[in-house]
Amino acid sequence: MAYALITGASRGIGLSIAIELAKRNINLILIARDEVALKENARVLNEKYQIVVDILAIDLTEQQSVETILSWLSQKNYEVNMLINNAGYGLSGQMNKYSLSEHENMMHLNMNVPVRLVYALLPMLSAQEKAYIMNVGSCASYQAIPGLNIYAASKSFILSFSRGLSQELKKTAISVSVVSPGATDTAFPDRARVTSKKAIRLAKATNMSPEQVAKIAVEGMLRGETEIITGALNKLGVLLTWLLPKKLVEKNIASIYCE
Ligand SMILES: NC(=O)c1ccc[n+]([C@@H]2O[C@H](COP(=O)([O-])OP(=O)(O)OC[C@H]3O[C@@H](n4cnc5c(N)ncnc54)[C@H](OP(=O)(O)O)[C@@H]3O)[C@@H](O)[C@H]2O)c1
Repeated sequence: MAYALITGASRGIGLSIAIELAKRNINLILIARDEVALKENARVLNEKYQIVVDILAIDLTEQQSVETILSWLSQKNYEVNMLINNAGYGLSGQMNKYSLSEHENMMHLNMNVPVRLVYALLPMLSAQEKAYIMNVGSCASYQAIPGLNIYAASKSFILSFSRGLSQELKKTAISVSVVSPGATDTAFPDRARVTSKKAIRLAKATNMSPEQVAKIAVEGMLRGETEIITGALNKLGVLLTWLLPKKLVEKNIASIYCE
């Protein structure tokens, strides 16, 4: 019996992805730090969808987190055929608003953890008849975002890493997708400490729900799409970013996020 392993499944987009997969009778492993939330999510999903759900409460930024996950999987004899790298967060404002170690913690979670999990689970994924990797990027992947700068750069890494990996694994049974949501109504702005009124107004005006994002993400992943941008407005935004001069785009974004 194989499982979908989802990081950041205590709330937000990760929890909504868990629900989308549960609707398809897929057994789940939910990972995040908040054990109480994970237990409650597992109870509800198990009751409602009659699937097997297990949880692992762990801080993924701990140096040995991926080794801990691997040995936990092996103890439990669990096979994974879907890896959803969703846990991540941003830090908004000027670079010197935060300590270097705060930036590095975010960079570790957003970039190193997905790479380490992919690397560690590749042998197991390769042994499956069909397997999926979904990395959660962001519309922030497509341009520099002054005021959310290191976060946006970390998501550009995820986009590029995922596209390259998808080609590298083309001849295997592993399909790789990168999902890029735009503003989504989750706890993200609180954790990112967004204070710019313009940015908050813009997010409120364009927010999609995590349920909408998860549905598009899971459908796209199961269709084998490599790059999934959620919603028509976000697709238009990415297209305009590609068409317009970078300097103009960055100046405009700075006027929103560096308020
Ligand atoms: N919301 C948006 O507007 C938006 C837009 C584009 C992309 N995204 C991306 O979508 C993904 C999900 O974010 P979200 O919007 O759903 O935010 P969220 O509601 O804050 O959820 C983040 C999830 O990541 C987990 N997490 C955070 N730090 C962790 C750590 N050190 N160890 C383990 N788990 C950790 C959190 O669980 P615990 O706190 O329990 O650990 C939570 O389950 C992120 O990669 C984010 O960058 C979000």
